[in-house]
Amino acid sequence: MSEQGETVKESGGNGGLGTAGRGGARAGNGLLGYLNSTPVGVKISGLTKSFGRNRVLRGVDLEIEPGETVVILGKSGTGKSVLLRHIIGLEKPDSGTVLIDGEPVEYDAPGKGGHTVAMVFQSSALFNSLSVADNVALYLREHKVFKDDGKVRQIVSSALEIVGLSEKEDVMPSVLSGGMKRRVATARALVMNPDLLLFDEPTAGLDPMMTRTIGDLILDLRQKVEMTQIVVTHDIDLAFYIADRIAVLSEGRIIEFGPPEQIKNCAEEAVREFIAPQFGENRR
Ligand SMILES: Nc1ncnc2c1ncn2[C@@H]1O[C@H](COP(=O)(O)OP(=O)(O)OP(=O)(O)O)[C@@H](O)[C@H]1O
Ligand SMILES: [Mg+2]
Repeated sequence: MSEQGETVKESGGNGGLGTAGRGGARAGNGLLGYLNSTPVGVKISGLTKSFGRNRVLRGVDLEIEPGETVVILGKSGTGKSVLLRHIIGLEKPDSGTVLIDGEPVEYDAPGKGGHTVAMVFQSSALFNSLSVADNVALYLREHKVFKDDGKVRQIVSSALEIVGLSEKEDVMPSVLSGGMKRRVATARALVMNPDLLLFDEPTAGLDPMMTRTIGDLILDLRQKVEMTQIVVTHDIDLAFYIADRIAVLSEGRIIEFGPPEQIKNCAEEAVREFIAPQFGENRR
């Protein structure tokens, strides 16, 4: 399936979402009006995965409510990306299950479930031979979501405007910075109209202003589209800004899962160690 998602839903635009939330002005009359997610829950039970002798996931249990934004924190190399790849069906577990809206993820035929799952990959995974706009439009065209290519271009433009890349529609990905590529990947995931959106380090390489824009986008998707979102990030400020609940992955398991306040006050050493630079005694 690579970075493509599951089934396509018919949807009609119903106007923009306007401004709201903690972030101020928002773009996107076209796209955010077009999105119509069905909020789906995600239930991960006893998930294990090894690569050779490297036991990466050692029994991950995590239950995410429909419409919730969950942030996954964990040190580099703990298996956060591997976990996301199991949720979108690109990696098959050694044991355990992932249910999306009660349905098991189809590892042998990813993309065949009854809901749309999209992912913003850590590597962005753009097609270098296609322009920015054509990368974003690919899913809409391949799945014939609209008969009219003008509508495709309108949704693509709106998605690129939301991620601050209106000027870059016609350029090739090779000339973009890493942070810009990630934003194109975000626009590409959005136009898939996902019920479940997975972000792997969406703000890596972005400046504070653009990080805030992406944070506000995630809040908009939660509040106005009720999209279920799972966000992997190393940015603790972003995590506390967007999360309904935060899960901490350590040594192959979720060792703490709860609202930001609970994580902030958690006494567990492995959690404290991770968030200490942000909330430690020495920081004002
Ligand atoms: N396809 C693979 N084959 C072998 N080992 C793999 C594969 N994918 C991941 N791993 C290993 O699994 C472990 C977890 O990798 P993963 O990419 O999930 O870490 P991460 O938590 O996302 O780290 P980072 O924060 O640096 O992105 C690492 O030891 C990695 O080398
Ligand atoms: Mg990773």
